[in-house]
Amino acid sequence: MSKNSIFIRACKRQKTERTPVWIMRQAGRYLPEYRAIREKTDFLGLCKTPELASEVTVQPIDIIGVDAAILFSDILVIPEAMGMHLEVIESKGPIFDNPIRSAEQINALETEGVTERLSYVMEAIKLTKEKLNNRVPLIGFSGAPWTLACYMVEGKGSKSFDIIKSFIYNEPEAAHKLLQILADSVVDYLNAKIRAGCDAVQIFDTWAGILSPWDCEEFSLKYIRYICENLETNGAPVIVFAKGVNSLEKLADLKCDVLGIDWTRDIGEVRASVGETKAIQGNLDPCVLFAPQEKIKAETEKVLSKFRYGSGHIFNLGHGILPKTPVENAKYFVNCVKELSIKYHK
Ligand code: CP3
Repeated sequence: MSKNSIFIRACKRQKTERTPVWIMRQAGRYLPEYRAIREKTDFLGLCKTPELASEVTVQPIDIIGVDAAILFSDILVIPEAMGMHLEVIESKGPIFDNPIRSAEQINALETEGVTERLSYVMEAIKLTKEKLNNRVPLIGFSGAPWTLACYMVEGKGSKSFDIIKSFIYNEPEAAHKLLQILADSVVDYLNAKIRAGCDAVQIFDTWAGILSPWDCEEFSLKYIRYICENLETNGAPVIVFAKGVNSLEKLADLKCDVLGIDWTRDIGEVRASVGETKAIQGNLDPCVLFAPQEKIKAETEKVLSKFRYGSGHIFNLGHGILPKTPVENAKYFVNCVKELSIKYHK
C-alpha cells in the first residue's frame, strides 16, 4: 500500500528499515527508453498525452528501482494554461515568445479554469496509478510562484535574472499581483492532483536562491507559505524544495513535511537545525553520478553518515539528474542507498 510505503513513512519521520530514494527528473533524457518515446512527439505533446506521460513516469521504477514515482509533466504547464504560448526547444529549454512585462499583460492572463484546462494531467495521474498498481507512491508537483514568474517574465532561463528583478523593483505591486494569481492557481492545481490520486506533492522553487534574504521572504517564501496553508492534503506529505535558500531555519515553520536541500549544504547541519520538525530530502551533487563507482559509493555513504541514525531522510540528488548521466551509475547509486542505509535504521 502506498500509504505504508517507506517513502511516505520517511516523509512523516516514522521508522523505516532503510532510507528511501528517488531522483529529481528521474523520467528524462538520460534514459534511452524515455528518448524512444520522446521521438514520437515533442515535449509538450508528451506532457499532454496521458498514455505516454504515464508510461515515462513508470519507467524509472522498473529500470533503476527508485522508491517513488514523480508524475511526468513540467512546471510551465500552468502559465501555458493561462494562455501564454510555450515552446520547449531541444538544447535551448523553455521559451515564452510573449513574456510578461506589464500590469496589462497580467490582467490579460486567463486565470479562470486553469485546473480544468490541465485535466490531461489528472488523466495521466489516473493512468499512472493503474500502471503502478501500488508498487510505489506517486508524487505530484508544481513550480512555486516565484520560479514560475521568473520564466513568465524573463521568457526563458537566465543567468542574471535581471528582467524579473527589475520588474519586482520597478513594479512591486504588479509583481505581487502576479505572484498571488500564481499562488492561487498552484493551490487549486495541487489540490486537484491530490484528489486525482497523488500520494505526495513537491513544490519546486528552483530560483528562490537568487534573491537577497529579505526579497526571498517577500517574493518567494511568502507565497510558498500561503500555498502550504491552503492545501487540502488529506494526509499526503508536502515537500518544499527552495533551492539555494541557505538558512533552512526560515523554512522550518512552513506547514510542510519535508524540506529538500541542494548539495551545497551539510545534511547533518541541516538536520541539527530543523530535523526535529521536518524530514529532509537530498542531497548528492548530481555530478557525482559522472564519477567512478567507488566515488559514487563513498559520496553516498558520506551523506548517509552525515544524516546519521534514524528516520526522516529521503535520499535524492541535490537537483535534477543530468541528461548525460550513465544509466548504470544511476542504478548503482540507488542500490548503494538501499544497501548502505540499512545500518542507520537498526
Ligand atoms: O522529475 C521528473 O522526472 C518529472 C519531470 C520534470 C520535468 N520538469 C520534465 C522535463 C520536472 C519535475 C520538471 C520541473 C521543472 N521544469 C523545473 C523545476 C525543477 C528543476 O529542475 O529546477 C523547472 C525549472 C522546469 C522548466 C524547464 N522545463 C526547463 C528549465 C527545461 C529544460 C531543461 C533541460 O534540461 O533541457 C524544461 C524541459 C523539460 N522538463 C525536460 C524534461 C524531461 C527536457 C525536455 C525534453 O525531453 O526535450
